[in-house]
Amino acid sequence: MNFKIEINKVEKSRGENLDFDAIPFGKTFSDHMFVSDYEDGEWKNHRIIPYGNFSISPANMSLHYGQTIFEGMKATKSTDGNAWLFRPEMHAKRINKSAWRMAMPSFPEELFVQALHELVGMDSVWIPPKKGSALYIRPFMFAMDEMLGVKISKTYRFVIMTGPVGPYYPKPVSLLAEEKYVRAAVGGTGEAKCGGNYGGSLLPAKEAGERGFDQILWLDGKEFKYVQECGTMNVFFVIGDTVVTPRTGGAILEGITRDTFLKILEAKNIKIDVRDVTIEELVEAHSKGELKEAFGAGTAAVVAHVSGIQYKDKFMELPPIENRKIGTMLKAEIDGIRSGEIKDGFGWMIPVKSKVLV
Ligand code: COI
Repeated sequence: MNFKIEINKVEKSRGENLDFDAIPFGKTFSDHMFVSDYEDGEWKNHRIIPYGNFSISPANMSLHYGQTIFEGMKATKSTDGNAWLFRPEMHAKRINKSAWRMAMPSFPEELFVQALHELVGMDSVWIPPKKGSALYIRPFMFAMDEMLGVKISKTYRFVIMTGPVGPYYPKPVSLLAEEKYVRAAVGGTGEAKCGGNYGGSLLPAKEAGERGFDQILWLDGKEFKYVQECGTMNVFFVIGDTVVTPRTGGAILEGITRDTFLKILEAKNIKIDVRDVTIEELVEAHSKGELKEAFGAGTAAVVAHVSGIQYKDKFMELPPIENRKIGTMLKAEIDGIRSGEIKDGFGWMIPVKSKVLV
């Protein structure tokens, strides 16, 4: 299906002569954004317009009750200069899972993908050419009703904005296994990519920072026994010769980078174990010298190596980064596939096809 998307281009691009080496994460935004509005039970008025502010009511429901969801994804340029999306249809599906959990309307998946092609095609000058850098794409949806009753909104706005990014964490991160706060419990919103999950993580992260740690290793909300995620990412461990990651099971985000890693590992015949992982077994593996690696996996960072984990009064220092074979291989593999240097045997890379030529 081909949706009608109205185009209103900027008069002059801000994207010329960008210094891609000096761009902090999430602070620079490309020329255009895609916007669509939900009213009377349907998505309408699909448009690509210059990036800019919205005017919203102080009674906008999303500001009060948090009906907001988002995605994070990337477009890259291959060494031959062509623009590519990475697994866009997975993100189209996942935002609708989040929408379902937050009682929001689903967004047509074909329109999601078509909008990405048009928008990224128009703003392709903003895609950093360097391997490991990318155009970060932020699709999001929020309630638009002007009303203070706690109810499901009847109107929504869906937006896609983009901006060039380099590496998210410049160095390995230290983790604090958190025993006071929780990120999510089964039955909560942990599987959804909704704003509240991230807002609720800020105070624990701040307190961890005051104790000298970069991020949190989240434990389950019932027993503080099972590992869930680290910071804003899924978490992987290498124990002996096996790559271990928690099964999702209701409170953990079904990460697309997580899924990508599992598929790469499988294709390389590396042993994988997706199951419940206890913090105690990590302590034991560490004391036996079997905890070889820990890393976060997310779209923004791709791989965030973990330097060590504090649990109760013990800091488990992990082997030097030079010895991290798996995390390093996975990052190189994704960067290589995205730059076109490694053959994509999975059908993940989708060439950007914009009808709007710039
Ligand atoms: C990611 O790892 O991609 C995230 O979800 C972090 C993002 C919220 C900046």
